[in-house]
Amino acid sequence: MSEPVTSDRLTLRRWRDADREPFAALNADAAVTEFLQGQMSREASDAFVDRIEAQWETAGWGLWAVGVPGLSDFIGYVGLWPADYVFGTPMVEVGWRLAHQHWGNGYATEAAWEALRFGFEEVGLEEIVSFTVPQNVRSRRVMERIGLVRDPADDFDHPRVDPRAYPQLVRHVLYRLSRTAWRGSHA
Ligand SMILES: CC(C)(COP(=O)(O)OP(=O)(O)OC[C@H]1O[C@@H](n2cnc3c(N)ncnc32)[C@H](O)[C@@H]1OP(=O)(O)O)[C@@H](O)C(=O)NCCC(=O)NCCS
Repeated sequence: MSEPVTSDRLTLRRWRDADREPFAALNADAAVTEFLQGQMSREASDAFVDRIEAQWETAGWGLWAVGVPGLSDFIGYVGLWPADYVFGTPMVEVGWRLAHQHWGNGYATEAAWEALRFGFEEVGLEEIVSFTVPQNVRSRRVMERIGLVRDPADDFDHPRVDPRAYPQLVRHVLYRLSRTAWRGSHA
């Protein structure tokens, strides 16, 4: 379950060592990390890549490295990530992080459609969620475009955000999509 996936404009694939440098660059960009807990060092960025690849090895699904053939081998990631830690129950998140110069082209949405298809059809998930801070409007728009729905009753305080350092990043909105609803929209 880890063969590359292609969409109209994108290649979604496992990570290569060559991705580490551009990934560290985007993780050090304040525009990209505006709603995250600060910019990442090269070491922290590399450790994240190690966790991503470990997730692929153990589960057979995870965050894809995204490339745009003919334009760039690596523009960021989109894919699935375990989020059991949020409520203490099994939960899988669809997430995205792209280099700033590649925003505004619909790449995150295009890749996220593939992540939903992969998660529901190939991994066999019953539900996929996504979450962010309310002020991350771009990310929320991706969630809404791919059909996820927010229930304000699901809003939560992120357990891994430091409330003293980042009080504005604690509260999160949660969007959900069930396999049944996804199938209905693809009938
Ligand atoms: C969240 C993030 C991935 C969204 O990126 P994005 O480029 O806005 O989202 P998409 O790739 O879906 O592109 C949508 C935009 O492309 C435009 N677009 C241009 N050409 C398009 C095309 N051919 N098809 C679809 N959309 C297109 C859309 O109109 C839309 O623009 P708008 O938002 O101004 O209306 C990006 O902002 C990011 O990486 N942020 C930093 C990390 C982050 O916060 N991640 C989420 C943490 S929860």
